[in-house]
Parts: sequence; C-alpha cells; structure tokens
Amino acid sequence: MRCVPRHLVSIADLDAAEIVRLLDAADRYWPSVSTSGTGSDEPVKKTSLRGRTVINLFFENSTRTRTSFELAAKRLGADTINISGSSSSTTKGETLTDTARNLDSMRADAIVVRHSYGGAAEVIARSVKASVINAGDGQHEHPTQALLDAATIRRHKSRLDGLEVVIVGDVAHSRVARSNILCLAKLGARIRLCAPRTLMPRGIEEIGGELTRERVRVVFRLEDGLDGADVVMMLRVQNERREGEACQFPNTRELSRTFGLSERTLAYAKPDAIVMHPGPMNRGVEISPQVADGPRAVILSQVSWGVAMRMAVLERAVLGDVALS
Ligand code: NCD
Repeated sequence: MRCVPRHLVSIADLDAAEIVRLLDAADRYWPSVSTSGTGSDEPVKKTSLRGRTVINLFFENSTRTRTSFELAAKRLGADTINISGSSSSTTKGETLTDTARNLDSMRADAIVVRHSYGGAAEVIARSVKASVINAGDGQHEHPTQALLDAATIRRHKSRLDGLEVVIVGDVAHSRVARSNILCLAKLGARIRLCAPRTLMPRGIEEIGGELTRERVRVVFRLEDGLDGADVVMMLRVQNERREGEACQFPNTRELSRTFGLSERTLAYAKPDAIVMHPGPMNRGVEISPQVADGPRAVILSQVSWGVAMRMAVLERAVLGDVALS
C-alpha cells in the first residue's frame, strides 16, 4: 500500500521532534554501517523496503551522496535505479517534471534528486506521487547532509543543545551550510558563520526567522570563528558556482591563507573540538592534510553516518515513518 508522500525538500519541513526521531532511527542502523569495529561484523540486511523502488536521479556529480543513498536503499531491501543527468532524456529537451512524471509512472516509491537548480526538488515533489528526497538543489539545501552531520556531532559530543558550531568557508554558495544552519538551530546549537565578506550572503542569519536570528552569528576572521568552538565544519570553495560572477575575491589561494584550517589555526578551537567536512575536500586549500587526517577529524565518520541516516530517511519517505524497534 502506498502512503501519503513524505517529501524531504528542506530542513524547514521537519520540526525538532522529527529530526530527533530520524537521529534515533539512524542510531539503530549505525552498528551495521560503522567501520569502527564497534558494530556487528555483518551488515544488517533489512527487508522493510522489499518490493519498493528507489530512483536516484542525479543531474550533478556525486560520490558520497549517490552511493550512500543506493547502499541505504539496498540495505533495506529496496530495488534501486540510478539515472545520471547526462544519460537522461533532459539532454534531448524533455523537461525536468516530464522526466520525473515518467519515472513516477513506473511506480517509483521514492525519487532522490540532485540538481543544480535551487527549487528542483520542490518542483518535482509537486508533480509526482512518489516521495521526493532532496539530495542537493543548487545553493538552496542539502537536508540529508545536515541530518547526517547532526548524527555525527551527537555521536561525538553526546548532545547538540548548547554546542558552539562554526561553519567556515564559502557560505555563499553552500547548500550544506544553509541546511546545517536550520538543522543545528532547531536542535539548540549556536552557529557561527565564518567567511570573507564576499562569500557571506547578507542577511543569512535570517534564513530561519527568529530561531536563526537568535542563534547565528556572523564573523569575518577565522580566529574569531574558531575561538572556543566545539565543532569546526569546513566548506569547499564552490568554484563551479562562482563562474561568471563579477567578484571572485578572494581567490582560492587567498582564501586558503586567511580561512584555511591548519594545526596552527585549529588551536583556537576547544582542545576537544571535532573537525568536519561534507566532502569533497580540497586538501591544502580549505583544510591541511595534517588536520584532515588528524585525530580530531570525523570526516569519514560523517560518510558512514550518511548510510545510516539515509536508511532512516528512506524508511520515512516510503513507509511514512521510521522504524524505532
Ligand atoms: C556537497 C554538495 O554536493 O553539496 N557535498 C556532499 O554532498 N557531500 C558539498 C560540495 O560539493 O562541496
């Protein structure tokens, strides 16, 4: 039986209780995806989505997100199909909604979509019966990344409420930053956004209304951003989204010098601060190899959480709720 679609287009679609429910569900899947040796050796193969179909429709490149959605669907017993933009009929002039409607007519239960157009997931969600999951739409949002980041932080810090989280780098072009601001604020963290003025969108503190206005602080020096932080989240410079912009200041080299995370600058953060990065990392640009491979980095743990969280998100999308027992 098909349920009412439970789209996940934006973190704004979820209240704090629903986010915690997803975090709890992902916790249950963690032992089966973790490579830390603390989990069971056998990956858990569940059957909750047996007979269901999950379609990954990716119009932008992806390593972690696409693979983890596919793995998550398979671990739940679903059939998965991957379609990349270059192999779809949109290259022959078909509209995005027509492509999505055609996939829907083959009885897709969930369509996971990544597209360079902010709003693409929303447009598809309005035109299909399947549940639509946003895997990144332009500079707008990347909700499952924020959820897996919250799960990673909770794992390493035991809580989110009251934590000081700094997001450093190209905030202007980052859908990861936007989803994280909303998600972390809903969970009670305090967020600092740290970037040069040219990469900091004006009014970003207002993105979630009063909630984020109270919890988000904008800073323009790395030292101020890192000072006393519990969590340091680094962002890649999204050069592909800067093309054609009149102002490309600072360039990558300047940004690396002034906002790059090294062992020296990390010392401004709390001694037990964790270092995160959504990937793909540009080693030696926003993060030094020593920090990326160092003891405080939880970057590969984020990747493992990606599978656990996407199992929870897919169950919610297809079955209407997560399984908590
Ligand atoms: C990010 C993305 O594609 O939005 N990566 C990811 O999904 N893990 C960030 C990026 O491209 O820099």
